[in-house]
Amino acid sequence: MDNHTSFNPRETAGKIITCNAAVVRGPKQPFVLERIQVDPPKKMEVRIKILYTSICHTDLSCWKGENEAQRAFPRILGHEAVGVVESVGEGVTDVKEGDHVIPIFNGECGDCIYCQKGTTNLCGKFRVNPLKSVMANDGKCRFSSKDGEPIYHFLNTSTFTEYSVLDSACVVKIDPKSPLKKMSLLSCGVSTGVGAAWKAADVQAGSSVAVFGLGTLGLAAAEGARARGASKIIGVDINPDKFDKGRTIGITDFVNPKDSSKPVHEGNEWWRRRLQLRMRRKLGILREAFLSTHDGWGKTVLVGIYPSPKLLPIHPMELFDGRTITGTIFGDVKGKTQLPDLARDCLQGVVNLDGFITHELPFHKINEAFGLLTDGKALRCLLHL
Ligand SMILES: NC(=O)c1ccc[n+]([C@@H]2O[C@H](COP(=O)([O-])OP(=O)(O)OC[C@H]3O[C@@H](n4cnc5c(N)ncnc54)[C@H](O)[C@@H]3O)[C@@H](O)[C@H]2O)c1
Ligand SMILES: *[C@@H]1O[C@H](CO)[C@@H](O)[C@H](O)[C@H]1NC(C)=O
Ligand SMILES: [Zn+2]
Ligand SMILES: [Zn+2]
Repeated sequence: MDNHTSFNPRETAGKIITCNAAVVRGPKQPFVLERIQVDPPKKMEVRIKILYTSICHTDLSCWKGENEAQRAFPRILGHEAVGVVESVGEGVTDVKEGDHVIPIFNGECGDCIYCQKGTTNLCGKFRVNPLKSVMANDGKCRFSSKDGEPIYHFLNTSTFTEYSVLDSACVVKIDPKSPLKKMSLLSCGVSTGVGAAWKAADVQAGSSVAVFGLGTLGLAAAEGARARGASKIIGVDINPDKFDKGRTIGITDFVNPKDSSKPVHEGNEWWRRRLQLRMRRKLGILREAFLSTHDGWGKTVLVGIYPSPKLLPIHPMELFDGRTITGTIFGDVKGKTQLPDLARDCLQGVVNLDGFITHELPFHKINEAFGLLTDGKALRCLLHL
């Protein structure tokens, strides 16, 4: 049993909380544990105590300053976590103090035309936008340094802190009996990977799937494909250390592009004819993934975040061959209304969450945890706050 609810919301509700946060002051600057101040939640906001947080490659990209999200510093990164509600702002009715919750970077307000549609998980008000770094309510930060300097938010979540303030659209209540550590995985990586296979690619029993990049996202996509009954799952990675874990998840074939000078799709005629799902980070590989799928019906789903704006490396005429390509945010899962079902599937063993947490460290070792991901040694390193 996790027992982390040893704080007394009655003493803190409505007041500023002073706590520790890992603040990053510029691209590639080490995280510094600082005492910060966290304002109480305003209207339709929730303040949560983070219990566990893990590091996703998207945190790494922002920390490196690889994309537009770099501009706002000092900043509190982190978006994959599990926590407990400390207090709620005016108008919040679906969560209350003491509830166990998962932050979601791709919110669901429930009211807008996007949320009303069954076909998209992009909310009109709270869809993820890495350029945003202040609260939607008033354009301000809820975090400040001890000198009163504002500290920016990240991906509507900011979880590398003992306390965070989120829009209630970005907070999902979970069953209090759920194992908290594993629930952190559902906050981003595993939900996105499984959702990519189940919803975006809609993998069918007996189909063939290839996954490019066998980090948490790729392995979760493979796990999703396995759960759907895919008969062949091909794992592609330039780091062969990832293959062992892949094998335990049910990946049936492995390709290391570094072992061959030929593009992946040329060397593998048999697979080229069988693939449905691909995910890639580098531009060239995206094209390879696309061309590796079966003509007529092959489907490529992009999950990886690109460092800078690039155009798709596809000739328009190639789209007449019947292949499709799409991208997914948060695995097309609607956070508030559909994530609880996915959590239930995980608890019932439909999706196996074992093995994704490869390391656990105390919060103050966050720089070490980042190093593990950078070096390709960790899937998820869980930080204990
Ligand atoms: N779309 C979304 O909603 C969403 C959500 C979370 C993460 N992401 C993105 O998904 C990607 C994966 O995240 P992660 O946390 O699993 O990362 P990770 O670092 O754990 O895994 C990435 C894997 O890709 C492999 N790789 C790198 N270059 C490769 C190449 N050229 N060919 C084959 N394999 C290669 C690495 O060896 C590593 O195993 C990142 O780009 C991240 O930003 C997207
Ligand atoms: C949350 O997302 C919405 C929509 O992108 C944005 O307006 C808001 O500023 C974001 N909040 C934070 C703290 O980034
Ligand atoms: Zn993520
Ligand atoms: Zn909405």
